[in-house]
Amino acid sequence: MPAVVIVGAQWGDEGKGKATDLLGSRVDYVVKFNGGNNAGHTVVIGEEKYALHLLPSGILTPGCVPVIGNGVVVDIGVLFEEIDGLEARGVDTSQLKVSASAHVIPEYNKVLDKVTERFLGSRKIGTTGRGIGPTYADKMNRQGIRVQDIFDEKILTQKVEGALELKNQLLTKVYNRRAVTVDEVVEDLLSYADRLAPFVADTTLLLDRAIADGKIVLLEAGQATMLDVDHGTYPFVTSSSATAGGAATGSGIAPTRIERVIGIVKAYTTRVGEGPFPTELFDASGDFLREQGGEFGTTTGRPRRCGWYDSVVARYSARINGVTDFVLTKLDVLTGLETIPVCVAYDVDGVRHEEMPVNQTDFHHAVPVYEELPGWSEDISGARSFEDLPANAQAYVRRVEELSGARISVVGVGPGREQAVVRHDLI
Ligand code: IMP
Repeated sequence: MPAVVIVGAQWGDEGKGKATDLLGSRVDYVVKFNGGNNAGHTVVIGEEKYALHLLPSGILTPGCVPVIGNGVVVDIGVLFEEIDGLEARGVDTSQLKVSASAHVIPEYNKVLDKVTERFLGSRKIGTTGRGIGPTYADKMNRQGIRVQDIFDEKILTQKVEGALELKNQLLTKVYNRRAVTVDEVVEDLLSYADRLAPFVADTTLLLDRAIADGKIVLLEAGQATMLDVDHGTYPFVTSSSATAGGAATGSGIAPTRIERVIGIVKAYTTRVGEGPFPTELFDASGDFLREQGGEFGTTTGRPRRCGWYDSVVARYSARINGVTDFVLTKLDVLTGLETIPVCVAYDVDGVRHEEMPVNQTDFHHAVPVYEELPGWSEDISGARSFEDLPANAQAYVRRVEELSGARISVVGVGPGREQAVVRHDLI
């Protein structure tokens, strides 16, 4: 089993950290291949709750090498904050590897992210304000600064000069902000060089050798399919490739090496930021899911928008990612509901759509067609086998599986590492 991908199958926050954790000691390398510190994994180990934004969640597994791949955008200040936070709690971070080709998020892109959102007004994306979009835009525009650049002052200065020519026009003339000097940017980035150096590696080579040696490499997506820049609800998406295809480009691992794709879906749906969300609830049911599920952002603390399970989204994710196994998380949150609606299709201006509408306007107009499934009231947090679940919870999982286009191999029944029902081994 050379390379395994984990992707979010909805709009993020599906509980990927827990799934990674579940694979635990069997995994030799965990690679983050996209996004930056816009992500938020919460991992619970014993009594301790860890919120990670940039570091791959595998950093908590002893013996596992965490890798930040070339497809990531790195806020170096945040990287060291997280490293320091973990070290203070006794977690060894010395094995971390950072791709020399990953891009760094300079301070000016954080400023630009926030002012652009303000400028967009009602058309804003609802970004996390971490500079993700502007940094990916620079990468594509060939004006980005890469990790390797901070070890060469001359090159770094040239690149920052080039980038600031345009950025300062934008900052001062469009957004009425102060200009940034080349020196302050260069100084800031150079200040990290000595500390970062031991972590920097040719990660594509490292991972290729690991696979050749029969190691298990887990590629962990940030964000999720519906936030993918190509396949998500554009323009209300993040700026990276959060799907299984992105795992290959963002890590340098060839697609032919990827054997399994694990899609993480929550037993209901959440979204943060702006953009269409057909099954969104604005009533007491939405509040119920938010409260029961603790649906407040790990990165921004924003209350998440909540809605019922959407099997059109799940089927789409199964197709785009080639999902081999789903992990259905947070089933316990649904406990206590009399009936549970599941979206099976959309009605778009009188036409039934079983598949994701390709047209943005159609998706904005999609009205969910629901099937009502009977609920359960028994506490399921102690279930460890499928048979431990009440009959209606089993039926819910089976029906959702039937609708979603791939088998459901694991069901999450609580926040703890061991609170899961495994139906099929993931690796
Ligand atoms: P950005 O990634 O900060 O540019 O934000 C773009 C969109 O992606 C916004 O709607 C964010 O709320 C959303 N987003 C980014 N990261 C996450 C995540 O880890 N979970 C859920 N939503 C996210």
